[in-house]
Order: sequence, then C-alpha cells, then structure tokens
Amino acid sequence: MGYNVAIDGPAGAGKSTIAKLVAKEKGYIYVDTGAMYRALAIHFLKKGIDADDREAVAEASRDAEVTIGYEDGVQQMYLNGENVTHMLRTEDVGNMASKSSAIPAVREKLLELQRSLAAEKDVIMDGRDIGTNILPNADVKIYLTASVETRAKRRYDELKAKGEDCDLEAIAHDIAERDERDMTREIAPLKQAEDAILVDSSDMTIPEVVAEICSHCS
Ligand code: DC
Repeated sequence: MGYNVAIDGPAGAGKSTIAKLVAKEKGYIYVDTGAMYRALAIHFLKKGIDADDREAVAEASRDAEVTIGYEDGVQQMYLNGENVTHMLRTEDVGNMASKSSAIPAVREKLLELQRSLAAEKDVIMDGRDIGTNILPNADVKIYLTASVETRAKRRYDELKAKGEDCDLEAIAHDIAERDERDMTREIAPLKQAEDAILVDSSDMTIPEVVAEICSHCS
C-alpha cells in the first residue's frame, strides 16, 4: 500500500494547485480525479447525450475506457486511447462532469482506477469523495475550502489574466450552484470526512496552505 493523502473540497478551493505543490515537496504522485470525470464527460458530449438523461449516460459509460498516464510528471488522461488532456478544462466539460458524476454507473467506472493507483504508489489524490469513500483509510485527509466570494474572485482573476471577458457575480452564482449539486447528490456527496483536517484557505497564501498540509504528512 502506498502512502495516501486525500484532499477533498469544493470547486475552486485550489485543491489542484496545492496538491501539485505538496506532491513536489513530498515526492508523491499527484492524482487529479476530477480529470477522470471530465474525460468521461467528453465521451458523453461527443455522443451528444443529454446530461439529465441518466439512463443514456449510464449506458454510454459502458463503452468508455478511461486511463491515466504521466508525461514529464504531468497527468495525462486518455479516453478510449486518445489523449484528451487538452480538452478537459472547458465550462461545458465541467458542467457535464458535475452532472454525470452524480450517476452511480459513472462513479463505479472510476472507483477501481482510483483505488489501484493509491494501492501502488505514494499519492496525493484530489477530488470530492476521496477521504469519505475512495480511500477511507488514507494516511492523511484534508478538507480544503474557501468562501464562495474568495473562490469566485480567484477564478475571475484567472480568467481576466487570460484576457477573457467575465462577470464576477455570474462566476459566484455558478460556483454556488456547483457546490449545491456536489454536496446534495445522493451518491458520494462532497462532505468533510470525520477524520479530515479542515483547511480554510480564504485568508491564507498558497505557501501557507502548502506548509500547513505538509506539516501533517510524513
Ligand atoms: O475538480 P473538477 O472541477 O475537475 O471536477 C469536475 C466534476 O467532477 C465536479 O463537478 C465533481 C466531479 N467529481 C466528483 O464527483 N468526484 C471526484 N472525486 C472528483 C470530481
């Protein structure tokens, strides 16, 4: 069994930024499970499936094979053998992933992949249900969060820096909506595991958050 750090929390809390830095400092492999849901979402979008048609999503998930690889230490996602890493980070894919990840067949599809990675390697795995469901015996569990306002402002600054036109209130609304969906779904909802350490990064710098998390890891 590898050394396992689970890091869960809502969208935009900075999990991937922080987890990558902790991975570097501690020599763990960073596993982004959201990217797995996003890869499957691309499959559903390609097939023109309506995200609210749960049966069609479950059926379509049967002929999708999601695998993971690393290039220069960076996680790559493959969908039926095609590298889809460059397509993962769009709003459409994020919304489809958020909806389809509430469907049991979709979660079952990715469960073994996630558990087998953690069994083989020292990992820091980021997601929504890692500490509560995927790796209940993880060595360290972190619940990383920040206020909706802080998360919206970070996303707004990120988009502005890329020269994209955006609206702070619309982003905040979108984040709150996604939180609601991720936290209230029937299967594997986002919640803090009882034995998870709560880290609220609203008033913390990135190095402070990394140091706090590293202090709990061996
Ligand atoms: O972290 P992210 O935004 O890339 O995740 C995309 C969606 O996938 C998110 O809305 C919730 C879902 N997800 C999940 O249900 N369980 C995980 N372990 C990771 C992501």
